[in-house]
Amino acid sequence: MKRILLITLCLLVSLACMAQTKGPIRLQTPSTELVLNAWEGRDLQIAYFGARLSDVDFQNLRHSGVRSHSAYPSYGNWCAGETALGVTHANGSLVTDLGIVSVETVQEENASVTRIRMKEKLFPFYVTVCYRVYNDVDMIETWSEIENQEKKPVTLTRFDSGFLPVSYGNTWVSHLYGNWANEGRVAQEPLEQGMKVIKNKDGARNSHSAHAEVMLSLDGKPQENAGRVIGAALCYSGNYEIRIDTEGEWHRFFAGINPDNSYYKLEKGETFITPALAITYSNEGLSGASRNFHRWGRKYMLANGDKERKILLNSWEGVYFNINEPGMDKMMEDIAYMGGELFVMDDGWFGEKYPRLTDNSSLGDWKVDRNKLPNGIGWLVEQADKHGIRFGIWIEPEMTNTTSELYEKHPDWVVNDPERHLSTGRGGTQLVLDLGNPEVQDFVFSIVDDLMTENPKIDYIKWDANMGIQSHGSHYLTMDKQSHLYIEYHRGFAKVCERIRAKYPDLTIQACASGGGRANWGVLPWFDEFWVSDNTDALQRIHMQWGTSYFFPAITMASHISATPNHTVFRTTSLKYRIDVAMSGRLGMEIQPRNMTQEERDLCRKAIAEYKEIRPVVQFGDIYRLKSPFEGEPFASMMYCSPEKDKAVFYWWKTETFHGQHFPKVKMAGLDPDKVYKVRELNRIDRRPLSCEGKTFTGRFLMETGLAMPMKHIVDYNRQDDWSSRVLYLEAQ
Ligand code: GLA
Repeated sequence: MKRILLITLCLLVSLACMAQTKGPIRLQTPSTELVLNAWEGRDLQIAYFGARLSDVDFQNLRHSGVRSHSAYPSYGNWCAGETALGVTHANGSLVTDLGIVSVETVQEENASVTRIRMKEKLFPFYVTVCYRVYNDVDMIETWSEIENQEKKPVTLTRFDSGFLPVSYGNTWVSHLYGNWANEGRVAQEPLEQGMKVIKNKDGARNSHSAHAEVMLSLDGKPQENAGRVIGAALCYSGNYEIRIDTEGEWHRFFAGINPDNSYYKLEKGETFITPALAITYSNEGLSGASRNFHRWGRKYMLANGDKERKILLNSWEGVYFNINEPGMDKMMEDIAYMGGELFVMDDGWFGEKYPRLTDNSSLGDWKVDRNKLPNGIGWLVEQADKHGIRFGIWIEPEMTNTTSELYEKHPDWVVNDPERHLSTGRGGTQLVLDLGNPEVQDFVFSIVDDLMTENPKIDYIKWDANMGIQSHGSHYLTMDKQSHLYIEYHRGFAKVCERIRAKYPDLTIQACASGGGRANWGVLPWFDEFWVSDNTDALQRIHMQWGTSYFFPAITMASHISATPNHTVFRTTSLKYRIDVAMSGRLGMEIQPRNMTQEERDLCRKAIAEYKEIRPVVQFGDIYRLKSPFEGEPFASMMYCSPEKDKAVFYWWKTETFHGQHFPKVKMAGLDPDKVYKVRELNRIDRRPLSCEGKTFTGRFLMETGLAMPMKHIVDYNRQDDWSSRVLYLEAQ
């Protein structure tokens, strides 16, 4: 939505639109630079990407040994190489040879968009490679627009968003992998000769396993706060493929929609626009690249990226499907007591003919179950009002079940080969709706629209998606375009989201997909946050949130305090530990407060009050990851600093316990060396304060020496356990 606004704005206030004919083009962000060579009639070339160049270095760039590469390699003229574009032209030819016809730059409010239009040398087939270059954040977005003016349709067999050549060296790739309840694990490996492929083919969601974002550390083994790093994020919600082809002296980086079973018939006169690939560069290590992603993301991508998120209680792990009026009301009263600001009623509230009692029915029948909630949603919204909080609700709009009124009425709305048996998912009955179908798009839009029209005070929607595309087939697409299924699904998804955001810009919407299946910059322009994982175990969350923070800021990461033993890993951690982990993201609760002791409720109440104090630093601050949980040391640590460096929040979590372990001091980062900071511990449970409590230290000392963290909490003997964690708030004096 933000992008639409930007484009409209750009059309309205287009400051300049200048045509350049040929020569080098410098695309500069505050600290980075991409140099292109754009000679009329020739292929567009990339000459340099990295730190911003001085004029003298730019002038002598070509004498420095750099080699230019095609900026958007197409298949046909150098058959042995990997390419970004593959086309079967109208006459059957597989060769695409592009030459520049025009270059233009359009100014937007805080960016410029350079568009290099190229024509195929024999056919009226055009490719425009585009770069949006921000002047206030270090990010460049690139995408391409592929236009067919040949006599007949052409077939696109590959259509990447972007390409980047990286000179061969001791280059390491960091990327995320995992699976359900184990999202965001960090993999780091050197790029050896051969091809590294990172991909997804789920169809509907795309980040449970691999992620569409990577970082390349150019100076050997990745470091958090040192070394040169290139970061790249494909802004797409569907199937993707990232390839890093290391051959000879180059790592050749490609990213785009996964073309597997998605070859695209481009009609005469049609233009195919790829999703954007966002690229950044930092010489401050992985954390530096993360800060670039976070700043850009909050300002230009994320829905409502400049608004603080509310502290909420979600009903799922507290009651699962056992929704009823008194139960919901009590949960609202409880979260209000603890200082929360929002209650979210999760799955189980709907279904008239087929009530949603468990996960095998009713998706699509978004009418309240009056047996459970006789007074409807309206009453709950009013009750929330009375408790002084806001109300939110769970939906899963892209899905249905075979047991549902919707499926009975519209069996042709589901994704499945019309001639074959149904392939079902969750509960043995779940099906994905065919979002490429405009009627389905209208229906999905109406789910949100009806809820909001009937209950305009709904403040939050948890939008779930618990199934991928399992069997290929669209009743809506013609047989010659069945391979468009995945692409049309995400176009349909985008259209619905655009409509929702145009009408409900202030509604908070969470992207959930069986946990973290939708953590990507493709959906975040329409969503305010995502559910990192269905796994709320604090120890595993330290790992998952660490990895996820490579690309996504804390404000996007829903992070909830839940019960123990944890419902997924059955680990028992202390409440203090669970709080200290949840407070490093967008704090919430996912628990039945009725089962908590008064002391536990009061600890949460205190934590919520303290989170409100640090919320701006956590949600809008700069991240500095200090000690990775993936390095096998017994603790992990990270911090956020306000942009002005006058406030910071430091987190320290013990990750294993053996008696006599040594915990070296963690050197902090991101502070102003010359400022003096006063230390205050948050969520304190110890009988005695830490010896640094209330004391002042210079940023220099904290960054060069650091503070010792004790291995244990000083609590009564019978309260001791094996968990230990600290949250320190640092305020400049
Ligand atoms: C998914 C989500 C959970 C919860 C359930 C409800 O698994 O990830 O948070 O909403 O669905 O069925």
